[in-house]
Amino acid sequence: MYKLAVIPGDGTGPEVVREGLKVLKAAAQKFKFEYTTKEFDFSGARFLKSGKLVDAQDIKELKKYAAIYLGAVGDPNVKPGIIETGVLLKLRFALDQYINLRPVKLYNSNFCPLKDKKPEDIDFVVVRENSEGLYKGMGEFKDKGTKEEVAIQTSYNTRKGVERCIRYAFEYTRKRDKRKKLTLCGKTNVLTFAWDLWERVFYEVAKEYPDITTDYAHVDATTMWFVKNPEWFDVIVTDNMFGDIITDLGAMIQGGMGIAAGGNINPEGVSMFEPIGGSAPKYTGKNVINPLAAICAAGMMLENLGEAKAGKAVEDAVIKVASQKLTSLAAGKMGYSTTEVGDLVVENI
Ligand code: IPM
Ligand code: MN
Repeated sequence: MYKLAVIPGDGTGPEVVREGLKVLKAAAQKFKFEYTTKEFDFSGARFLKSGKLVDAQDIKELKKYAAIYLGAVGDPNVKPGIIETGVLLKLRFALDQYINLRPVKLYNSNFCPLKDKKPEDIDFVVVRENSEGLYKGMGEFKDKGTKEEVAIQTSYNTRKGVERCIRYAFEYTRKRDKRKKLTLCGKTNVLTFAWDLWERVFYEVAKEYPDITTDYAHVDATTMWFVKNPEWFDVIVTDNMFGDIITDLGAMIQGGMGIAAGGNINPEGVSMFEPIGGSAPKYTGKNVINPLAAICAAGMMLENLGEAKAGKAVEDAVIKVASQKLTSLAAGKMGYSTTEVGDLVVENI
């Protein structure tokens, strides 16, 4: 019996989570596993009403769950940064979800903005460090508001933090068992402290994985290869900031935010699964948002819980629906409503 925490959140979050839960139910019936869900109302909307963000008590409570399923948090009426740090990053950090796993997989060539790229050309996974780097929030102002002002933002990288991320990436590449190639994406030519550490640890750990081919690409070049030769990649490991940036580009080459899902993983604790697209306020309540990203996130959650067959069935159903039914993956252009797309996936489970 899996105890699942569900955070529908803001904007279109509740709409896509509803479809994800529908698919979860169908998968549970077919693959004979049981689960319970408990809803948590962490959101921009709750913050506006009560001023409440995620606190230590909430974290303590969430630690009792097998996994967390998140829609999206973010309200246009809240100043940027508050919900991000007070809810999303708070959950990632406090639950020590030190990996952000973001698969980039093209399901249908029609949805790819790149010319002549086929599903077999775009199939890689980004392992983004999820607990350190520039996201640590370290820095300071000097002489704020004056002409002499200096703003410093520090990238914080610990040996332990870098090593656990790189180890996870090597293990993941081995287990994925595709091209067995792991690319370190960094900036060794300019960021000579952080990437010196990353590079040293990468090649040191690599010695324990002789079956894995290693490669290195600067982050700027990586964005170029994503467009020019995405087929070169199998698994990419990178820091928090670079991972954030390259996975938005990754989402676009796999067909857009409507299909991109990710997992915030604590391999020893509670992980959280989410569509990576955000709360899309302008589409809220219109039944037009694409739920496939949230459904894929539910599939990733199943895989992570140990229900690999169910996870695979969800992904296969999404592939069928995306390639045989939808006219587009974009909100309002799918040829079906949000709820209809959810139903189509259920029919294919
Ligand atoms: C993401 C988002 C978040 C991030 C924001 C909302 C804090 O862009 O999940 O990629 O920067 O990690
Ligand atoms: Mn992002």
